[in-house]
Amino acid sequence: MKNKNIQNFSRKVVVVGAGAVGATYCYALAQSGIADEIVLTDKNEDLMKGQVLDLVHGQTFFPTVGIRSGTIADCHDAQLVVITAGAAQKPGETRLELIKKNAAITGSIAEEIAKSGCNGVMMVVSNPVDVLTYVALKRSGWEKGRVIGSGTVLDSSRFRHLLSQHCDVDVHNVHAYILGEHGDSEFAAWSMTNIAGISIDEYCPVCQKCSDWKKQRELIEQQVRDSAYHIINYKGSTQYAVGLAMVRITAAILRGQNSILSVSTLLESDFGISDVCLSVPCVVSDKGVSRIIESPLSQSEIASLTHSAIVLRQALDSISKD
Ligand SMILES: NC(=O)c1ccc[n+]([C@@H]2O[C@H](COP(=O)([O-])OP(=O)(O)OC[C@H]3O[C@@H](n4cnc5c(N)ncnc54)[C@H](O)[C@@H]3O)[C@@H](O)[C@H]2O)c1
Repeated sequence: MKNKNIQNFSRKVVVVGAGAVGATYCYALAQSGIADEIVLTDKNEDLMKGQVLDLVHGQTFFPTVGIRSGTIADCHDAQLVVITAGAAQKPGETRLELIKKNAAITGSIAEEIAKSGCNGVMMVVSNPVDVLTYVALKRSGWEKGRVIGSGTVLDSSRFRHLLSQHCDVDVHNVHAYILGEHGDSEFAAWSMTNIAGISIDEYCPVCQKCSDWKKQRELIEQQVRDSAYHIINYKGSTQYAVGLAMVRITAAILRGQNSILSVSTLLESDFGISDVCLSVPCVVSDKGVSRIIESPLSQSEIASLTHSAIVLRQALDSISKD
């Protein structure tokens, strides 16, 4: 007889794309203990098998978690499917050709996930993440909250790190968000930034760590934007911090946490913007984005958000042309 005190649930995550980001995420997720089962898939079977073997050999040291290779059919009972599949830029290939190629890959994966009968949430991480989140949403046919992009959760973490370094305080006392496009048009929402509950505008004049804080703010914001370029120049790609940002979003979904995170979501008249996916403060829970928080942004922040929306709409229009 079944013990009624034991809940029959499985926190299953399927990861499509076993490259650097997908595998690093699996490693961090297994270590976190928040998933019961992790299924890794990739069109490159050798890579998929190798990554899975490398991970399962750590099962002795991970909290209890099942790890195996699979296919997209495994999504049917997953609570979360994560897309990290993508093509790398080939010599001579333009940025637009690459976007079109990745839009085709993400679009067909999203269709297959929907066909599997999955009832969970889809998280897109592959770049350009906001464009691909929109493509995945449309191709899956799912309701908007269930298809999210990792958006600027990583960029917000970079921002908090830089602020904590500059102000010489614990990063956990720094609360701050980068909003808009995950890319060149992203911006710091200074109006939402606080240190230990003290708004940054009140904190800066009393902090005494620098005298030219207005200039320092510009430099920090630019450093956040340039972070990925610097890492890519040094080592070719980024994987660790993004993997952890993905685990943070995963926790909000698998545990139904109602966390406020700057994930990429479809806007429909929110902040006066419609029909693009970009990052704004969202309540994230077991059904994905349950609501958008329309924080009272300053006029210049609204202008920056609108600029991101224009940039992203142009990218979406350009991929739909022949
Ligand atoms: N959103 C973010 O914050 C963020 C941060 C870092 C990287 N990224 C993006 O994540 C993506 C993955 O990066 P990476 O470094 O892991 O790249 P990678 O080249 O190491 O891995 C990509 C994997 O996708 C697989 N793949 C390609 N087409 C597929 C398909 N149709 N089905 C299944 N698998 C397929 C490839 O075989 C490869 O293993 C890139 O688009 C990258 O730009 C996003």
